[in-house]
Amino acid sequence: MPNDDQNRPTLCILHLEDSLNDHALVLREFQRSGEAVTLQRVESLGEFENALKTAYFDVILADYRLPGFTALDAWQLMNHNKIRRPFILLSGAIGESAAVKAIQMGISDYLPKDDLSKIRHITQRAIEMHRILIAKETADTELAHSERQLASFAEHLQMTIENERAAIAREIHDDIGGSLAAIRFDLSWIERHTVDKATLDHVQTATDMLHHAVQASQRIMMNLRPAILDQGLAAAIQWLANNFSKRSGIETLVQAQLPTEQLSRTIQLTAYRTAQEALTNVSKYAQCSLVKIELTGDDRFVTLEITDNGCGMNDSNLALTTGFGIKGLKERAKTIGGWVDVSSKVGFGTSITLSIPIPDGQVTTEEH
Ligand SMILES: Nc1ncnc2c1ncn2[C@@H]1O[C@H](COP(=O)(O)OP(=O)(O)OP(=O)(O)O)[C@@H](O)[C@H]1O
Ligand SMILES: [Mg+2]
Repeated sequence: MPNDDQNRPTLCILHLEDSLNDHALVLREFQRSGEAVTLQRVESLGEFENALKTAYFDVILADYRLPGFTALDAWQLMNHNKIRRPFILLSGAIGESAAVKAIQMGISDYLPKDDLSKIRHITQRAIEMHRILIAKETADTELAHSERQLASFAEHLQMTIENERAAIAREIHDDIGGSLAAIRFDLSWIERHTVDKATLDHVQTATDMLHHAVQASQRIMMNLRPAILDQGLAAAIQWLANNFSKRSGIETLVQAQLPTEQLSRTIQLTAYRTAQEALTNVSKYAQCSLVKIELTGDDRFVTLEITDNGCGMNDSNLALTTGFGIKGLKERAKTIGGWVDVSSKVGFGTSITLSIPIPDGQVTTEEH
């Protein structure tokens, strides 16, 4: 059978030790275990720092008490230089409080000098644990970075969507709204200048259709860019609830206690879109008879809760859905430092809660 040890690269160890004897014992223990090692001994903080800066070591073994300093000073020096290596205390008895302090400071391991037979095992374990720790930290950093990127992408996307919606709403208003107004003008001109019954009937039908088209374009504009927000979030939510109730026949109660006119446009829009999506979900899935919308808060925190008494859902509904509604709400809330909670139980309705902390100085309208 091939011997793995033969393929193992030489282990480079820095040994902080003032006793030549103890150093020799450690070296002998490694040789006995068959480990290929280079063991460099240093005994002052200056030598220690110098060695770390000039060569790479897989692991550091350190006696606890050295002339004028302890291994903890060496550990701090290493951290100060932003050098990270597995660091094992290899020492005589060090006392409980020193051991606790060493663990708190993050030192990898401790091996009493009279237990040297474990040195190879402890060293390998410390190197492996250190490798895992560094890999985890790297993965955490990368994850945090991509989460930040995702959040800023979501924010950018939301802004683009809202700007695009506002632009379409403006075009409907200027183009279609302008044309409809002109048609209305012409229809009333015809009405005033004819007595022909058939013509008047057609004018009436056209006027009804026109009325319908005006209402439809106002509704579309309102969905695209809720101008009602200019009257404050509470008024906008009330308007949304009234419309929802009229269309769905579901009783919808709104309770709003909020100085909403002080909120930034972004916060208002986020809350409004959250209520809009929650109500759309209610009409699609909840099969309920009552919806309650509660808007509360002060100048530091806003909460919006939309609760229905419908069929509810379980975790798998959210996990398996290909929909982006609730995921989108969560991402959107994150972009303004808030969050969305979904609480539901099959047969007992669903609650969507948006919570937004308001940063200092963010209490006035900031953009449109
Ligand atoms: N009020 C509710 N009552 C019961 N089930 C709900 C309710 N709201 C959401 N759900 C369930 O949660 C799932 C996810 O909702 P979500 O809004 O994320 O996606 P969607 O509505 O299916 O799609 P999209 O919003 O992208 O059009 C829904 O498919 C539905 O099963
Ligand atoms: Mg949805």
